[in-house]
Amino acid sequence: MSSLVYILNGPNLNLLGRRQPEIYGYDTMDDVERNCREVAGAFGLQIRFLQSNHEGELIDWIHEAREDAGGIVINPAAFSHTAIALLDALNTFEGPVVEVHISQIHKRESFRHQSYVSLRADAVMAGLGVNGYPLAVRHMGHLIGSV
Ligand code: DQA
Repeated sequence: MSSLVYILNGPNLNLLGRRQPEIYGYDTMDDVERNCREVAGAFGLQIRFLQSNHEGELIDWIHEAREDAGGIVINPAAFSHTAIALLDALNTFEGPVVEVHISQIHKRESFRHQSYVSLRADAVMAGLGVNGYPLAVRHMGHLIGSV
């Protein structure tokens, strides 16, 4: 199994650290990527860390992951609650999928309680802040890592 993990981030997460910090905190996507790379290295994983505000681009990356990745960590952001096409794309991927939400979506507005992606995800992290990402990578390490 490939030791490459795609870490995909959906809309508005490029503004992490500046966007509603009372909910999402002050760490930026660069901080998150750095923490993920550290954990990935310890587990013998490579990562491809990507963010897009466009559903189709995320879907294209999932299709690429079919070719070369062992696992996908994804924070679909608001697309979690709306995007059946993202679910369909993830259903074409054969390796493990871990869904991450920085906030505890079940404690928030009712429209955030449902995630289409959760119908595919093998594990879901919500409410651990940005720490959810390195923990998700760590879990990938157990599933597909070489250490
Ligand atoms: C989020 C939760 C979503 O409901 C929201 O639309 C986001 C971020 C999270 O990480 O907590 O953009 O996925």
